[in-house]
Parts: sequence; structure tokens; C-alpha cells
Amino acid sequence: MSSKNPRVAIIGLGFGAEFLPIYQRHPDAEMFAVCQRNEEKLHQIGDAFGIDRSKRYARYEDVLADPDVDIVHINTPIGEHGHMSIAGLRAGKHVACTVPMATTVEECAEICRAARETGKKYMMMETVLFSREYLFVQRLKDEGKLGKIQFLRGSHQQDMSVGWPEYWWGFPPMHYATHAVSPLFLLAGAMPEKVTCLGSGRIREEYIPRYNSPFAVESALFKLRNSDLACEATRSLYETVRQYRESFDVYGEKGSFEWEQTAGGGHVMHTGGEDIEKIEVPDFADLLPEPIRRFTTQGVYDLDENQHLSFFQGAGHGGSHPHLAHEFLRAVIEDRAPKVDAPTSASITAAGILAHESAMRGGETLDVPDFTKVV
Ligand SMILES: NC(=O)c1ccc[n+]([C@@H]2O[C@H](COP(=O)([O-])OP(=O)(O)OC[C@H]3O[C@@H](n4cnc5c(N)ncnc54)[C@H](O)[C@@H]3O)[C@@H](O)[C@H]2O)c1
Repeated sequence: MSSKNPRVAIIGLGFGAEFLPIYQRHPDAEMFAVCQRNEEKLHQIGDAFGIDRSKRYARYEDVLADPDVDIVHINTPIGEHGHMSIAGLRAGKHVACTVPMATTVEECAEICRAARETGKKYMMMETVLFSREYLFVQRLKDEGKLGKIQFLRGSHQQDMSVGWPEYWWGFPPMHYATHAVSPLFLLAGAMPEKVTCLGSGRIREEYIPRYNSPFAVESALFKLRNSDLACEATRSLYETVRQYRESFDVYGEKGSFEWEQTAGGGHVMHTGGEDIEKIEVPDFADLLPEPIRRFTTQGVYDLDENQHLSFFQGAGHGGSHPHLAHEFLRAVIEDRAPKVDAPTSASITAAGILAHESAMRGGETLDVPDFTKVV
């Protein structure tokens, strides 16, 4: 580890704790500070990972006031992402934040502004975009094996009724659409321009008032900007029975990739006519520095008992965690835009926010801003 390595603070130590040992072992990082509101848990995790007592913070403001912190990696509940990212950038920190970027289109635009004006890096830590399936299909595309892409479809269906904090109850499905839509936009190489979404079904009455969102399922169509492509995404969280699924399908003129129907069923390539091939998706740990390669295949925090529930439900997030940390660190060190930079994150997140808005307006077609042009 060099003394010039960026110093990382992790904010929020539920899911966030998964990243602690990755930064600790990454040759280009110094795992420096941790922050969460509950002091008992703060010290429990601080002790478990040997974080200096003076670098354990219960208040985010104190992390931002620490001049030795270079990067904040935010893993707090969704409603906190927007204002914490803006405050982090304005305090002169590089900001990595778990999904989604924010809960309003205005906050997404403000993060783009703050990143541009401060020159600091921002990345939304979208697990799907560093999953082995995504990396595999990206490679198929780059090698020309799909030919021209003609259509893409994504889904994220999850039952969040048991084991999740109350703030999730009744959450608008498309406000957390990033896993379903991001692979479509990135593989298409185009961001959304227009969205039309319908809500379907109804969740239990007591869940509705929290977010004033009645739908059990939301299903959206996106028209992509400067592209002849459209794509489709489906989300459900409550009162809709289905095994966990985060999926994307890509249809090309030479070959098409379809996600497995159920866990372990096997992904499929359609290779022409009626021919199909079952796919064994490789692991991409070899793209990473050796000390963090092991984290593509196992969770990192308290391996035996206390894995984060999302890690089980999300099938280990496709081995993405070390790739996410690595990409952000390298972007900071190389002074380049990360793969999921602020305008890209804003487009992905706003697509979902506006999809829900469209559903609430009975399927009205809405424009998605071009965040590369935010002033
Ligand atoms: N696949 C994925 O990308 C994925 C998977 C799981 C969770 N997540 C995201 O991670 C985030 C956290 O999820 P979780 O399940 O760990 O949530 P959680 O509610 O269990 O934990 C939140 C953590 O944030 C801390 N926190 C909350 N407000 C804070 C504040 N103002 N200042 C400092 N710390 C604060 C809490 O103390 C706690 O440690 C969510 O936004 C979720 O969407 C993403």
C-alpha cells in the first residue's frame, strides 16, 4: 500500500460492510474510516475490521470535515443517497454511492452539477454492471457475436415483505429500477429519451400511504436517445409471488442471450434457426488485482452467519463487489470518468423515477432529461 493511496470512508455498515475487506486488501486503497448512526454497531464493526477508533464516525458531517478522507462510499438507505452524495462532492470528496443515485430527478441533476463543478469523481455502484453475466454479454457484443442489437428486456422481481427494514414497505417499484434497466442502456450504448409505464395490480392497503404507490408491478417501455432501439423492464416488490430474479435479455441479428427462467436453470444463447446453446458464464476475477479476486465468489462480511440478505437473494450480486471497488479506485487514481459516471447514473435512475411517474399518470409518455447537458 502506498502513502498516496486514496483513503476510503464507508458510510452505512449494513450492505456497506461487504466492501470493507475489499478496500482493506486492495493494493491501491487505504480503508480509513467508517460511519453509521448506531455507535454500538459502529464499534462492533470497527473492532472486527481493526479500524482506528478515531476514524469511527457516528455523524456523516464529521467524515466530511475530516481532511484526510478522499473517498466516501455511501451505503445508507435510499432516501439519504441524494443529499449525502451532493454534500460529499461539495465537501471535496470523491463519491461512490450504492443504487439508486437519488429519489428525485432534481437531485440526480444536482449530483451531475456538483461532480462537474468540483471535478470530483462520482459513481453509482450498480452491481449488475459488474456481474459476470453482464461482463460476459458485453464481451459477446464486443466480439460481434450478437451482431446488431435489436431489442433488450430486463426484470427485477423480489419479495421484500420479510426481513427488510420498514422503509421499504410500499416502495414504488420503479424507484429502484436500476438493476433492471442499467444493463439494457449500457449494452445498447444509449441512454433513455422517453418512457411509458403502466402499473398493474395492487399491494396491501397498509403499505400504500407511505409512498402513495399502489401498484404491485410496474412495466415500462423506453425509447433510447439517438438510437433505433427500444427496451422494456418489469419490477415487482410486494404481493407478487416469484423466485428472486434480476435478469436481462438481449436480442441481436446474429445471436441472442436470454437469462435463465429460474435460479440454476442455465442461461441460453440462441444461435440461429431453432438452435440454442446453454451458457456457462465464466468468472472474471482475473481482471482484478490478485488480493481481491477471491471476493467474486464469496461474500466478505462475517462469512458464516451474517451475510447481507441481498447477497443471498441476489445470488452474490454476480461477483460484482470487488469489480465495483476496483473500477472506482482506478477512476480516481487515473483521473478519468468511472464506467458509471454521474450523467450515466442520473439517466439510469431518472428513467425509473419517471417510469413510476408515468404509471401514476396512467401511462403518459414522459421525457427523460439528457444529463450530459445539465447546466
Ligand atoms: N445490489 C445492490 O446494489 C444492493 C444490495 C443491497 C443493498 N443495497 C443498497 O444499500 C443501501 C443500504 O442497504 P442496507 O440493507 O444495508 O440498509 P440498512 O438500513 O440495513 O443499513 C443502513 C446503514 O446506513 C446507516 N445510516 C443510515 N442513515 C445514516 C446517516 N444519516 N448517517 C450515517 N449512517 C447512516 C445505518 O446506521 C446503517 O448502518 C440501500 O440503499 C440499498 O438499496 C444495494
